[in-house]
Amino acid sequence: MKFIFLGDVVGEPGRDTVRAAIPLLREQYAPDFFVVNGENAAGGNGITPKLAIELMRAGADVVTLGDHAWDQREILPYFATEPRLVRPANFPPGSPGGGSVMVSGNGHKLGVLNLLGRTFMGPQVDNPFLLVEAEIAKLKQEGAECVLIDFHAEATSEKIAFGRAADGLATLVVGTHTHVQTADERILPGGTAYLTDAGFCGPHESVIGRDIPSVLQKYRTLLPNKFYIAKEGLQADGVFVEADPATGKALRVERIQLKIDAA
Ligand SMILES: [Fe+2]
Ligand SMILES: [Fe+2]
Repeated sequence: MKFIFLGDVVGEPGRDTVRAAIPLLREQYAPDFFVVNGENAAGGNGITPKLAIELMRAGADVVTLGDHAWDQREILPYFATEPRLVRPANFPPGSPGGGSVMVSGNGHKLGVLNLLGRTFMGPQVDNPFLLVEAEIAKLKQEGAECVLIDFHAEATSEKIAFGRAADGLATLVVGTHTHVQTADERILPGGTAYLTDAGFCGPHESVIGRDIPSVLQKYRTLLPNKFYIAKEGLQADGVFVEADPATGKALRVERIQLKIDAA
């Protein structure tokens, strides 16, 4: 089984990037599934029903989220109608939507789990280290051959620790949220593919997707400022994994940084 995960989609340029990247990646890697983090799809802040549909039409089988999950209020009722849009599983019980989903395709079944880290992260969510085993067991009970975890967290140390906590249980643990791709892809001893951060999809002539002058002004003046979305340097960041569906263990992990030519 093969699948590709793409990091946080930032604004309209990020959505354009994903739309351009998926056919190219499909040709190159022939993955069975695409999973895309959409927490910044709506102008950098959250996602709307229309944009979730847009990402799925572009080829995303599952859209994951993060600390920006609730930024657009119109998304709240949409979760009930679209189980393939998942938000972190460790939000309080009763939060809209679910934290995991299983998808089928090409004769394979992939479970996708989204969790939020707690170090230097806003929402005071439940401890992901205590939830992960039961969440993976639930997906495997539903028939998932492989399990992908989008661990949305700030601190590299927490992400690395989480990878170790899920080693041998998940097929891939990939970090999101920093928007900066790390170069530490590997297969852990238990067979879990791991990458501390996938990076982001969108304008890389930027400060993690935002317009450079508006960010610099904030740092120079400390005055509140609107951060606009940058436009240039479209690039899709992510990770490709090939795994054995019989064992759920990773066989190959490869980082993706795909530059998209400006139209
Ligand atoms: Fe993000
Ligand atoms: Fe985030």
